[in-house]
Amino acid sequence: MKGVVLAGGMGSRLRPMTLVTNKHLLPVYDRPMIYYPLQQLVHAGIREIMVVTGGSYAGDFLRLLGNGKAFGLDHINYAYQEGHGGIAEALGLAEHFADSEPVVVILGDNIFQDSLAPAVSAYRAHRRGAMVLLKAVPDPHRFGVAELEGHRVRRIAEKPEAPSSSLAVTGCYFYDDQVFAMIRALEKSERNELEITDVNNLYIEMGDMSHRVLSGWWTDAGTVASLYRATRLVAETDAPVLRRTRPAPAKSGEAS
Ligand code: DAU
Repeated sequence: MKGVVLAGGMGSRLRPMTLVTNKHLLPVYDRPMIYYPLQQLVHAGIREIMVVTGGSYAGDFLRLLGNGKAFGLDHINYAYQEGHGGIAEALGLAEHFADSEPVVVILGDNIFQDSLAPAVSAYRAHRRGAMVLLKAVPDPHRFGVAELEGHRVRRIAEKPEAPSSSLAVTGCYFYDDQVFAMIRALEKSERNELEITDVNNLYIEMGDMSHRVLSGWWTDAGTVASLYRATRLVAETDAPVLRRTRPAPAKSGEAS
């Protein structure tokens, strides 16, 4: 299975901070935001990873991440999203990289307390259809919201005014290779984006969607409030997947 981190988009909800950099390069506690999804993938044993980004600061990802040495990787693949046509559009750019293998996709502004390794193993076991990870939240109207019928997801509503449950669809998705044909057939939404929720609803209609409910905390970091919350949660949590390999201390005489 291959991994894709989506780090395009405008970051408009974090202006003025994102006027001179990409949202995913902003710090969350002690490291850039993009480190968290990368750490998750590596922790789950995914070695082939693509970062999709865009905008004026795409080159900074290459300078920051290089070939992934800080994560124990030999290589990172990159793709460039022109404009900000949505999460599904950004994922579509990974088709060639995926090369018919299943993919685990993480949104670059999503941070999970617990390792995603169990979910990766569960998806690997049957390797078909789609799988989403759900989390009960106090503010579901900010997210894709899953409507459950018994044990199955009946529908996902994107940012509903009146959510039918408290279960947010987190930004970690598992897909088989059908996803790319689905994305090609999608139409833009009212906000002029190719919506990942439309992709997920197609899988649901085909009867090919499974889900897991997360027990650890989960947050996005795409608004001022959630970026602050993410920083606080990371600072206060001692979880293996959140630990960072510390850089070597500066030698004496070097500026700190
Ligand atoms: O955080 C989880 C939520 O993410 C889900 O519950 C929603 O269903 C899903 O639509 C998404 O909601 P947002 O509206 O909060 O997503 P946002 O536009 O902030 O984009 C999230 C990440 O996706 C962003 O950090 C980078 C990536 N992205 C987004 C867009 C619009 C891209 O790579 N390219 C894009 O064009």
